[in-house]
Amino acid sequence: MDFKSGVIYQAYIKSFNDTDGNGIGDLKGITEKIPYLEKLGVEMVWINPFYPSPQNDNGYDIADYYGIDPMFGTMDDFDELIEVAEQHGIGIMMDLVINHTSTEHEWFQKALAGDEKYQDYYILREAPEGQKYPTNWVSKFGGPAWEPFGDTGKYYLSLFDPTQADLNWRNPEVRKEAADIVNFWMNKGVKGFRLDVINLIGKDEEFVNSTGDLDQEKSLYTDNPIVHDYLKELNHRSFGKYPEFVTVGEMSSTSIESCIGYTKPENDELDMAFNFHHLKVDYPNGEKWTKAPFDFLELKKIMNDWQIGLGENGGWNALFWNNHDQPRAISRFGDDKNYREKTTTSQAHILHFLHGTPFVYQGEEIGMTDPYFDEMDQYQDVESHNAYDSLIEEGKSHEEAIEIIKAKSRDNSRTPMQWNDEKHAGFTEGTPWIEVADNYKVINVENELENGEIFNYYQKLIQLRKDMEIIQIGAYEPMFLEHEQVWAYRRKHDDQELITFSNFYGDPITLDISNEVEDGDWDYLLGNYGEKAFHKNLELAPYEAVSFIRTTE
Ligand code: GLC
Repeated sequence: MDFKSGVIYQAYIKSFNDTDGNGIGDLKGITEKIPYLEKLGVEMVWINPFYPSPQNDNGYDIADYYGIDPMFGTMDDFDELIEVAEQHGIGIMMDLVINHTSTEHEWFQKALAGDEKYQDYYILREAPEGQKYPTNWVSKFGGPAWEPFGDTGKYYLSLFDPTQADLNWRNPEVRKEAADIVNFWMNKGVKGFRLDVINLIGKDEEFVNSTGDLDQEKSLYTDNPIVHDYLKELNHRSFGKYPEFVTVGEMSSTSIESCIGYTKPENDELDMAFNFHHLKVDYPNGEKWTKAPFDFLELKKIMNDWQIGLGENGGWNALFWNNHDQPRAISRFGDDKNYREKTTTSQAHILHFLHGTPFVYQGEEIGMTDPYFDEMDQYQDVESHNAYDSLIEEGKSHEEAIEIIKAKSRDNSRTPMQWNDEKHAGFTEGTPWIEVADNYKVINVENELENGEIFNYYQKLIQLRKDMEIIQIGAYEPMFLEHEQVWAYRRKHDDQELITFSNFYGDPITLDISNEVEDGDWDYLLGNYGEKAFHKNLELAPYEAVSFIRTTE
């Protein structure tokens, strides 16, 4: 796939489509829906991990890199998926989790049993005198980042769940294993990789205490310059040999500068990177587990900085509102009650006209919302349960804590895909592993395809990107950066100019654009309220988005 003109869909396999009634989505379920994805127009599907795993972190805790967990199907199912997808012009992107393995992985088990070769696959340290752990670092899921390594007196580093042990990338054998894994799946026909928390693989040899400040602490193990060396090496040993192969790095707490390095084609590292800064605009002082309104100006500023930073320096952005780790953007930044359709289409519009590769997360194309679960037993995610326990420990009431979980839980996006208005939204004949949102009678694929406006809008956005170079590679320039209600920008390419406006709120507004936009023959290109004439006093309805284009002399 040409990642400059194509759009990638994310299928959270566990919740996408279950064909065997075990309540968990599977590979056959994705194969069955390939024609649906073709209809949408996407060229690649990123599938979340389906390797054998104890599922303590929904598959991001891999116990065998070369297998398929029976709950998701078999290797034959996988081969069939690759084949069917290819027949429909869709490539499969796998999720590669090589910063850590599950503690159930054979390597870790051998290490625990005393095998020194495998002990060097992990990061094992002793606690210095007077300290409980090797460092004071905290895990991203709460609690200390070190766990006792059997009865050796040592500790292993685990930046996520205690059952996810960080790999020692300083060991060349570990790096060789990573390349072998990539080559194995490439030989099976995989066309892309999403590399999980890949900017965390380079740790210093020496581990030092942080000051206790979370940002400072993250900087001790994030974006270490050696990550670039490791990625180049991996690239040269595997996917770098195939120009059509697509790679996207998931970059936890990264910087623009680092991402230019990761994604510049001449550096031979990755094609593009996900960053999450724009999805922290409702984390006051960096705090996720609290409820706060989002900062619109900050959101625009961040997106603008990344557009300019990567766009003008040869880097490439992965563009997204949603994934399996985030609440649904329409519930979070929009009005999913009164303007569900318009919020969804206007958010999609403002994102898809930017410089980068857009990702569509399952359900986004039909306007799925957060499920608003009221009880903790409806949540399955380890991070949400840890957060709830901490909130209660801090003295919050159940009501206060659950309001926060409701707004921030990763399970908000992990509820089953809503296919129709039948039992469990047509996701499964069994009992789903996580409850279906109760709005599925109205919000579902069947209803959307017959009566809706969202799927159809995504089709248009995806097609326009395929057709128009200006959307793919046009230069980006901001407009109205300080405006508190409207998001706007322009793109320029050859003799073309494209301008895009989105009213990000529910109040109508008339925007005087005469100082920003030159006179000319502006043609309507696309809008979520239908065709409208260009006007210097641009009237925008609630959550309206519109683009105009002209040819300059
Ligand atoms: C990434 C994944 C997330 C997982 C974490 C640890 O952030 O997207 O789901 O919990 O890595 O592997």
